[in-house]
Amino acid sequence: MTSRVTVHRIDPQDPAGAEAVLDLDQLVWADDLRTPREVALADTPTRAAWIARVDGEDAGIAASWDIELSVPAAGDGASLRPVEGLTWVGVHPDHRRRGVLTALIREHLRWTRHEQGRPISVLKASEPGIYGRFGYGVASSTMMSSFARGTTFAAPPAVRELADATTLRTRTASPEQGRRWHELARECARTGAGHVVRSAQDSERLLLDHPESRGSREPARLVWATREGRDVGVAHFHRSPKWSEGRAEGRVGVFFLLSADAGARLALAERLVDIDLMATTEYWVAPDDVLALWLPSPRSVGGSGMTDNLWLRLVDLPAAVAERGHAADVDLVVGVRDEILPDNARSWRWTATGGTGAVSRTDATPDVTLDIGDLGAVWLGGQTLAARTAAGFVAEHRPGAVAELDAALRTAVGPVGTIDF
Ligand SMILES: CC(C)(COP(=O)(O)OP(=O)(O)OC[C@H]1O[C@@H](n2cnc3c(N)ncnc32)[C@H](O)[C@@H]1OP(=O)(O)O)[C@@H](O)C(=O)NCCC(=O)NCCS
Repeated sequence: MTSRVTVHRIDPQDPAGAEAVLDLDQLVWADDLRTPREVALADTPTRAAWIARVDGEDAGIAASWDIELSVPAAGDGASLRPVEGLTWVGVHPDHRRRGVLTALIREHLRWTRHEQGRPISVLKASEPGIYGRFGYGVASSTMMSSFARGTTFAAPPAVRELADATTLRTRTASPEQGRRWHELARECARTGAGHVVRSAQDSERLLLDHPESRGSREPARLVWATREGRDVGVAHFHRSPKWSEGRAEGRVGVFFLLSADAGARLALAERLVDIDLMATTEYWVAPDDVLALWLPSPRSVGGSGMTDNLWLRLVDLPAAVAERGHAADVDLVVGVRDEILPDNARSWRWTATGGTGAVSRTDATPDVTLDIGDLGAVWLGGQTLAARTAAGFVAEHRPGAVAELDAALRTAVGPVGTIDF
């Protein structure tokens, strides 16, 4: 007999629902249970959480954060759009590989499109093999970097001048600074595509210290960068002290480094690689991050190489196209495959003029055929359709059509690395 998977939305006001979500999460993620239950419960996302049941038993969970994503704008820079951030995904060990995750994602995507009216869902993946089949593409990548103490960044004099005019102040992270972080994050997000901005409420919650869950690590710190009385950057980090044969070999872990301009980024980065008793500073750097460009080569970035950062799923293609800037005029027909959301799966006439794009239904023969995940992969400028054509994922039926769409979706610089969520 085949089991039936049903998916149920948790009522945010229902404490039993939050308890059930937390129980499954702790089981799936092998939680050490050091965090007091009331603290863990307060962290459980209930704004949008789902439980999947198999024959009446709790079998899986998923949730969604309310976030904003910076997408390429017409002209330079990026604009912030509300999207859903899929999170807290887990399936009970007794119910794996029976379609529980599939049912949860289908419901998340349906809800995102039809109840939230949001055109995009994003996530950070625990493993690379899980989400491609659901139409998510790797929209940004990042290098896991390790900077040695005293690393020098070869920034040109004009940038250094700005850095020298920047004041840095270190504070212990606390919820009272959440709104300030949120507002600055929204401002910095307009500098490029790929920024994830958490809601003001989540920003406050994330800065709350939980001594039980951080183990022997110090409380998180914020270093604020200001210039002429204005916030121009902030870094969130913690130090893990370590001694080896009498030498201080501590480690600085950076959770985020936000900057409104290159001078603020330089000032913050140089502070983070020059902290007493610390030997290395670990941070995630996108390939186009100015920090990587100020080093002689990617090899100097250290760390353990490139990894996927943000996965992006277009949930409502016409709405997503309308709110994304286009770098060149275009007029072609794109055949889109989407096995989960049939509204996306058809031929679209894709036009753009003066930076604004639109798609409309057509029965014309496609110039290009692709998967919805191919568009997710190129949406923030981290990949090109030409590369995905070379890999055999995208099919070009009229010579030049892929180059035309690539030109329209091109961004001036690649997407930034973003925070975990
Ligand atoms: C990853 C996880 C959620 C998968 O749940 P599940 O209910 O077993 O997944 P499904 O049965 O719906 O699988 C759907 C498909 O994805 C595949 N798949 C599932 N997990 C996979 C993984 N980790 N790697 C590669 N493929 C995977 C399945 O084989 C299946 O393929 P098929 O459609 O070709 O048969 C579950 O194993 C889990 O809870 N893992 C630990 C927590 C975790 O990693 N969560 C993800 C957070 S980002």
